[in-house]
Amino acid sequence: MPDAAPKSTFYVTTPIYYVNDVPHIGHAYTTVAGDVLTRWHRQRGEQTFFLTGTDEHGQKVQRTAQAHSMTAQQWCDQLVDTEWRPVLATIDAANDDFIRTTEARHSHSVQALWQAIRDNGDVYTNVYEGPYCIDCEEFKLPGEVVEGTGALAGQLVCPIHGRPVEQLSEENYFFRLSAYADRLLAHYEEHPEAVEPASARNEVLSFIKGGLTDISMSRSSFTWGIPVPWDPTHVVYVWFDALVNYATVAGYGTDADRFARMWPADVHLVGKDILRFHAVYWPAMCMAAGIAPPRKVFAHGWLLVGGEKMSKTKLTGIAPSTVVEHFGSDAFRYYFMRAISFGSDGSFSWEDMAARYTSELANGFGNLASRVAAMVVRYCDSALPAPGAPGPAEDLVRQAAARASTLADERMVALDFSAGINAIWELVDVLNGYLTEQEPWKLAKNETDRARLETVMWTAAEGLRVLAVLLNPVMPKACRALWDSLGAAPALGRLADQPVTDAARWGQLPPGLTVTKGAVLFPRLED
Ligand code: MSP
Repeated sequence: MPDAAPKSTFYVTTPIYYVNDVPHIGHAYTTVAGDVLTRWHRQRGEQTFFLTGTDEHGQKVQRTAQAHSMTAQQWCDQLVDTEWRPVLATIDAANDDFIRTTEARHSHSVQALWQAIRDNGDVYTNVYEGPYCIDCEEFKLPGEVVEGTGALAGQLVCPIHGRPVEQLSEENYFFRLSAYADRLLAHYEEHPEAVEPASARNEVLSFIKGGLTDISMSRSSFTWGIPVPWDPTHVVYVWFDALVNYATVAGYGTDADRFARMWPADVHLVGKDILRFHAVYWPAMCMAAGIAPPRKVFAHGWLLVGGEKMSKTKLTGIAPSTVVEHFGSDAFRYYFMRAISFGSDGSFSWEDMAARYTSELANGFGNLASRVAAMVVRYCDSALPAPGAPGPAEDLVRQAAARASTLADERMVALDFSAGINAIWELVDVLNGYLTEQEPWKLAKNETDRARLETVMWTAAEGLRVLAVLLNPVMPKACRALWDSLGAAPALGRLADQPVTDAARWGQLPPGLTVTKGAVLFPRLED
């Protein structure tokens, strides 16, 4: 047998989204973060793989389909085609695969993984009696439900969804989660980076230390799911089906070489609401099945509306297309990655987004790019001039570029997108200040200032090159337009192939490139 290929792919995932409803900007937020992170790593020259998809089984989806007089499969097919796949184009996500849990490749992996866990002795039969929240698709522990009030008085209610839980009494198969507490604690002790940020890590550790109880891994009172391999009268509990998607796509049970290259996943991005599933249950399942747990689970915060988590259930969801139609996909990506510190909650407001769009994107970055291109076109007949010897002002620009690229790389790799973009924006501000001070429009008036004008034009263009490379993972459309306007591709190749770690190496733009005015990167907003 040839040796298995070594792990070589930086593998990023989003949660797979429930198809009981349509996407809102909270879902798009996670996907944008995954896409930005993956594009950054790709531009570090790494092999990358970015996965997203849909979670289609379970009672919630089955009931929604019934309410629409469709079969569950028809309902899923329709929603995936008309809503969930299109949202990826809307936000310009470059995912490498899209997994649907109703695909045959997935049921194959789920069955293989649960068979391995059972063979390991971690599955037994028992009766589950207790509350279940269909909106969470979760068996609730005693302290996790509250007494209803008002119209719900006398009922137990899920505090997350504000809706009554159902009392289940089913004979199910149980997963021996309790046996994994010590191993999980040891794992997190050894790999403190495996759950981030610190608040998430603390929550996970205290949950594990509080004692783990075994949980149902199957359901027997309905049929919309993947049959339990040793007993087809049960389906696999939807979370214990969904979590396996990450392994399915990595080739678990089907392609050992691919699995060796891709597994373990490098980053599972999740909303903080589903941290426990990803940082307790899933790593325990991996251990029980004899595969490595994920390298990192990162729990981000919620987009809030009126102080509450944005949700369709509560009718506060805003469709990503509504925001993108107004601002464009680049601004969508930029705004959510910069305005909200990743890991904290944040509120979305049209006013805040419009203000940042105008001051930072249209006036800050876009105007800088169009001014420099227009001046090279006008003063230098569209040919990028050769710079003379750099003076102190040019040194400051070069140093700002070096700082921006070093700090941005450190922060982006740490999933601190907001600080990463802030670091790059220092260079936007330095370049704007450079033009204000050097006043190339005045230099252009005197032939004796010609050499100086050429130095300023080249330096500004070189600074824009650095910005295009560093901002490409965040705003691929605008940066591509900037790359085209600089005429950089014939000399340097495709923008997406420019390493972020080499971005600040000064002197890459060769004189003589044909610079064109190009489209306005961030047009003025209509009211
Ligand atoms: N299907 C499960 C996940 C299974 S993963 C193996 C699920 N789906 S979901 O559609 O309800 O939510 C998925 C994710 O969407 C959340 O974890 C979070 O990443 C994102 N968000 C949903 N609402 C959100 C906000 N209001 N704000 C930020 N992210 C939100 O849970």
